[in-house]
Amino acid sequence: MSDRERPHSERYFTDSRDHWWHADYLGLLATRLGVARAKTLLEVGTGQGHFARAWAPHFGSGFSFTGLDREERSLEVARERSKAFAKERGLSGSFSFVSGAAEALPFPEASFDMVFCQTLLIHLPDPGAGFDEMVRVCKPGGFILAVEPNNLGGLQHLAVGGPESDPSHQLREALYLVRCTRGKALLGLGWNNFGIRLPSLFAKLDDVRYYQNDRAWVMAPPYATAQEVTALEDLQRSVDEGVYGWEREEARRYYTAGGGSEAEFESDYDALLHAQACELATMREGRYVELAGFAGLIAAGRKPAAH
Ligand SMILES: C[S@@+](CC[C@H](N)C(=O)[O-])C[C@H]1O[C@@H](n2cnc3c(N)ncnc32)[C@H](O)[C@@H]1O
Repeated sequence: MSDRERPHSERYFTDSRDHWWHADYLGLLATRLGVARAKTLLEVGTGQGHFARAWAPHFGSGFSFTGLDREERSLEVARERSKAFAKERGLSGSFSFVSGAAEALPFPEASFDMVFCQTLLIHLPDPGAGFDEMVRVCKPGGFILAVEPNNLGGLQHLAVGGPESDPSHQLREALYLVRCTRGKALLGLGWNNFGIRLPSLFAKLDDVRYYQNDRAWVMAPPYATAQEVTALEDLQRSVDEGVYGWEREEARRYYTAGGGSEAEFESDYDALLHAQACELATMREGRYVELAGFAGLIAAGRKPAAH
């Protein structure tokens, strides 16, 4: 299937999403937020349900979880996998998945005890509108939780070549990322660094807390952990398909909207594809090492009683 035929997010729904969290850290968050007391839970922008399944072992018995997304194909996968997951883990609760738009949730006010999202607000042209809907459908006193990245955290990758690496190549990678991210936002397709702005939304809630995902990304020989195996598979696929981050045409749109020229884009994309292939080759030789923090920023707060 070509990128044009598959739902936009499918390229990013690889098994690596199953390794975004330490289960015990989600358990700690669940304790802090009293997740087990919530009977009705909603995730907006649930995709294939990876975040839902990471949380599910921390839900209280008899939970009723609803996942909403605008992509029906992703919801089909979420239904199938979550049913199998609940059976395998012996979870006593229900999962249901419904189609809808984050900006106009198809639920009455105060329907859920808790409302989540993960990497959703970065994709919305108006994250405030999506957030307001999450607040509307949450019961007063219930928690709203968002996990959103500041994708400039990816710039940690610039250090991977060590102090001897060429500064101009590092700056090229940085400029590429900043131009694409800026262009995507200027096109009205969401700002991938939105995590940095979460306090602008959560300030109006009660009992607000901010945290960060404690998971680190590691790539080190023999690349044998489940996280490394899936990351390596993703990298191999990107190299095989000639894709660096976004598929070329999509990246070109973002890059040029972000202020770069077509000629600069072609040269940057080819250089970054080449660097990516070299990185994979270094891994295959067992010489690649990287340890990076994952910029998953977390905000949680309660819907005020008189909202
Ligand atoms: C990056 S994925 C995150 C999926 C899931 N939360 C996870 O972390 O695995 C973003 C999801 O948001 C959905 N989405 C984006 N904009 C949306 C909107 N306006 N209404 C409903 N869903 C939306 C996409 O279809 C996609 O499945």
